[in-house]
Amino acid sequence: MKDFTLALLLSAALSSALPQEIDWDAVEALKPIPTASIPIVSAAAAATTFAINTASAVSAVSSAVLARPSEAIIAARHAKHHVRHAHLAARDNTTSSDNSKCPQKPAADDTPDAFLQIGTFAQTALKASAPAGYSQVYVNKNGSSEFIYPYMGFTTLSSYDTAECSKRCDAISGCQSINIYFERDPSIEPTAGCTNPASSTVIKCVYWGSPVTPDSTTNTGQWRKNFKVLVAGSNGYVNTTHSHPKGYDDLIYLNNSAIIAPPNCRGYETYMGVKIFQNKPFSIDLCASACSASSEYNRAHPDKTGYFQTCQFFNTYILYNETRSVGQYCALYNETWGKEFATNFGQWRNGRRFTLGSSWMVSNSTGDFDKPRGCANGQTCE
Ligand SMILES: *[C@@H]1O[C@H](CO)[C@@H](O)[C@H](O)[C@H]1NC(C)=O
Ligand SMILES: *[C@@H]1O[C@H](CO)[C@@H](O)[C@H](O)[C@H]1NC(C)=O
Ligand SMILES: *[C@@H]1O[C@H](CO)[C@@H](O)[C@H](O)[C@H]1NC(C)=O
Ligand SMILES: *[C@@H]1O[C@H](CO)[C@@H](O)[C@H](O)[C@H]1NC(C)=O
Ligand SMILES: *[C@@H]1O[C@H](CO)[C@@H](O)[C@H](O)[C@H]1NC(C)=O
Ligand SMILES: *[C@@H]1O[C@H](CO)[C@@H](O)[C@H](O)[C@H]1NC(C)=O
Ligand SMILES: *[C@@H]1O[C@H](CO)[C@@H](O)[C@H](O)[C@H]1NC(C)=O
Repeated sequence: MKDFTLALLLSAALSSALPQEIDWDAVEALKPIPTASIPIVSAAAAATTFAINTASAVSAVSSAVLARPSEAIIAARHAKHHVRHAHLAARDNTTSSDNSKCPQKPAADDTPDAFLQIGTFAQTALKASAPAGYSQVYVNKNGSSEFIYPYMGFTTLSSYDTAECSKRCDAISGCQSINIYFERDPSIEPTAGCTNPASSTVIKCVYWGSPVTPDSTTNTGQWRKNFKVLVAGSNGYVNTTHSHPKGYDDLIYLNNSAIIAPPNCRGYETYMGVKIFQNKPFSIDLCASACSASSEYNRAHPDKTGYFQTCQFFNTYILYNETRSVGQYCALYNETWGKEFATNFGQWRNGRRFTLGSSWMVSNSTGDFDKPRGCANGQTCE
């Protein structure tokens, strides 16, 4: 009976051919991140930014792995001041149009359609250059980025100045990308007696802790009573510098693909499981920290024969549920695999498309502890 169970377990282990595909149990256990709402009324829209100490985020990952080694989810606490629930209001049809109490009547050409036709917004966005150290990922969209995490605040600018926007991002610890755009805002908060006030154009510079993507520009505005908030000339830029974790080899970029490693040359799995960082600035250091901490934990907890696995290689990327970022995925391995095993370009789940981005693989080849043992030709042997 005992042998039978063991055989069954072994065959189950060996037949689960692709254990490193997206870990749906972990992904589906994630709690939704409250959505950030960026204030729109210019007078009330005091700029706010939120810094995140990246060094303490890295050490928090290490502590979490050491304390709960089998737990996949490592989420940042959602500080209350970081997020407000967005109310992307539908048009308030219960309010009939009434501008009798507006302090200033909107001009006849102050309409949503006219705003989107303003050519200077498009021209400005199209000719803006990427700030030094940043790359442009989208240009002249009619929507701003949303569902990129973590949200790190915004400021308004007096001109559409990409360099100024990036400088402000650089000054915010954890900021990795920016979205700059023109926004059609109500000059005052719409009220019952002033349902569609005069507009004012505000130039916003929004800060994000992970890369903005073209697909994330889905926030095309909202209704406030009879006033329509709109976005134009929206450009996105990403800081191209990546931290290099100490003690690890060179970073290798996999773009939108992830590693699916076969069993090693002796038929053993080298995959050690996954950690998912939710609402933390994207950083290769976080995954390196989880990798090193896994080794540290295992070293202190060998099995009865004295054997333990060390983490020598990882693949980390951002997982997207359609256009929305889910979190930073971090898959750990005890042996190094080559770029040719980066064959996972995303998966479908319940009719939704999950894709990957910002994918990197990194190994720790110190002392060749990342190489299979007892194989004739390293990884390629039969
Ligand atoms: C993907 O996003 C949709 C819409 O927000 C949500 O209902 C669903 O639960 C998400 N799926 C996973 C696996 O996170
Ligand atoms: C509200 O008004 C808008 C614009 O007139 C219209 O498109 C929408 O269908 C209305 N919604 C409801 C619930 O009546
Ligand atoms: C980009 O990110 C790096 C690392 O976080 C930071 O040191 C740098 O100031 C940022 N900006 C530029 C222009 O490199
Ligand atoms: C933005 O809106 C304008 C006016 O409706 C339209 O001409 C343009 O194609 C839109 N741009 C995008 C990227 O959708
Ligand atoms: C990453 O992949 C995307 C989608 O296939 C492609 O458009 C883009 O050029 C790639 N980027 C790099 C740096 O290879
Ligand atoms: C790299 O691997 C070696 C061998 O397992 C280990 O001693 C060392 O601590 C690892 N380095 C890091 C930064 O985890
Ligand atoms: C990786 O782990 C597997 C399974 O425990 C083991 O058979 C293999 O020898 C390990 N590889 C290294 C390089 O230690």
